[in-house]
Formats: sequence, structure tokens, C-alpha cells
Amino acid sequence: MEQASNSHTTPQLEMDKIPAHVAIIMDGNGRWATRQHLPRIAGHKAGMNTVKKIAIAASDLGIKVLTLYAFSTENWKRPESEVSYLMKLPIRFFNTFVPNLVKHNVRVMVMGHIDGLPAATQKAVKKAMADTAECDGMILNFALNYGGRDELVCAMKSIAQSVKDGEISPRQVDEQLIDQHLMTAPLGSASDPDLLIRTSGEERVSNFLLWQIAYSELVFVDQAWPDFDGDSLRAAISTFQHRHRRFGGLVNK
Ligand code: FPP
Repeated sequence: MEQASNSHTTPQLEMDKIPAHVAIIMDGNGRWATRQHLPRIAGHKAGMNTVKKIAIAASDLGIKVLTLYAFSTENWKRPESEVSYLMKLPIRFFNTFVPNLVKHNVRVMVMGHIDGLPAATQKAVKKAMADTAECDGMILNFALNYGGRDELVCAMKSIAQSVKDGEISPRQVDEQLIDQHLMTAPLGSASDPDLLIRTSGEERVSNFLLWQIAYSELVFVDQAWPDFDGDSLRAAISTFQHRHRRFGGLVNK
């Protein structure tokens, strides 16, 4: 798979071709910390600071939606102490950073099973969404307690129930209807990422936005998430801008 350039020079971007929706699998916090003989949670703390920097950098670039994979439905399998720290991070992040997000007109949204989060995390998440509800700039969309297969199972259950209740016929099940039952439905026409970035050199999708990435451009970067910065984001976007998107057809889009 093609790697994004790790060049230290800032690439020239075509500002009229900025991807509307960028999704990021923020990987490598643990290895970043271990390399520095620090506990894994130090990597997550550094990762939170990267979230702050990248949220503002993305907003400044004119990205419409930035979706960040912060905690998957599978991450509960980690040691209790690490899970507990990861559940506290959104509280710290929102308690300190929401005023800055408001200043940049950034709206916070969360996709995933919020009701499965600890009460204090739920409260912080709901407050951040309420406090930024009037912002109409970039949407900072956190995937929290989210899994792509789980999302599809929930959508299928809901559609099956509508068929059983006689509200729709099986013939009416199409891509648009499925889109409307996914957790990205509130994002409307920007629900599918144009660009999916994964840090730390791993080249996997890890149960993230399985339906929505059907035609996303995938960019893998070697940097661990705590080392990812505005230049790395611009390099990934530059790589995206050099790809030819054909959506199954013959004409470049
Ligand atoms: C993957 O790295 C990262 C996570 C599972 C957690 C990501 C969370 C953050 C970056 C902080 C989130 C901040 C907010 C504001 C919600 P890993 O631990 O799997 O790294 P490794 O593969 O090197 O072990």
C-alpha cells in the first residue's frame, strides 16, 4: 500500500480539493510510550494532545468532518486500568478544550454506544455536544464505543423490525435506506470518508466504518499517533490529491 510522504517540507495543497470527510485510526500510542520507557497510558495522554492539534489543523484546512476512532467495541478487552484511563480522557479533553473548539466554530458529535460508557464520560460527552451544538463549522466526530460490524448489526435489526411491522417492504431496502440506519446518518451527504488515515504503520481497517469506506482513499503513515502533526495531515491530504478516484467508473473524479 502506498505510504504518505514523510517529507518535512510542507506540501502545496490544492485548496479546492480538500477532502470533505477525513477519518483517522489513531494507532500507536502504546508503542510510542513503550519506546520511551513510559507506561502505555502516557502514550494515550500524548495522543489526546495530538487530537487537540489535529482538530484545529483540520478545521483550518476547511475539512468538513473529522472522524476519530477513539475507542472501539473491542477495546474493552484491554486491562481494566488502561480502559479506565481511556474513559477518563474524553472528560479531560472536553473539560479543557471545548472553549477552543467553540472559538474555531467546531461542533462535537459522538457516534457509538454512548449509553455503555461510564456515567461521568457520558456526562462530559453530552455536555460537549450541547455546548457546541450551535457551531456550524467543522464537525469533530468521535467514534467512542463504536464497531463497524456492530453498527451494521444494529442497522439490520432496525430495518428487519420495520419490515416486520409492515412499515416498509423488502423491496425498499436499498443503499440509501441502509445509510439512514447507520450511526453516520446525522452527517448526511458527508457520511462517507473521502480519506481514511491510519498511523503507526499498521495497514488494517480494524472494524472502522466498514460500510462507509467503500470508496475512501486509504493512506497509511509510519508515524505513531502522538508524533502525527499538521504537516503529517497535509502530507496525507497531498497523497489523497494525487490519487485518481473513479468510484468504479472510468472517469477520474
Ligand atoms: C490505539 O493505540 C489508540 C487507542 C485505542 C486509543 C486512542 C485514543 C486517543 C488517541 C486519545 C483519545 C482522546 C480523546 C479526546 C477521546 P494503541 O494503544 O493500540 O497503540 P499500540 O498499537 O501501539 O499499542
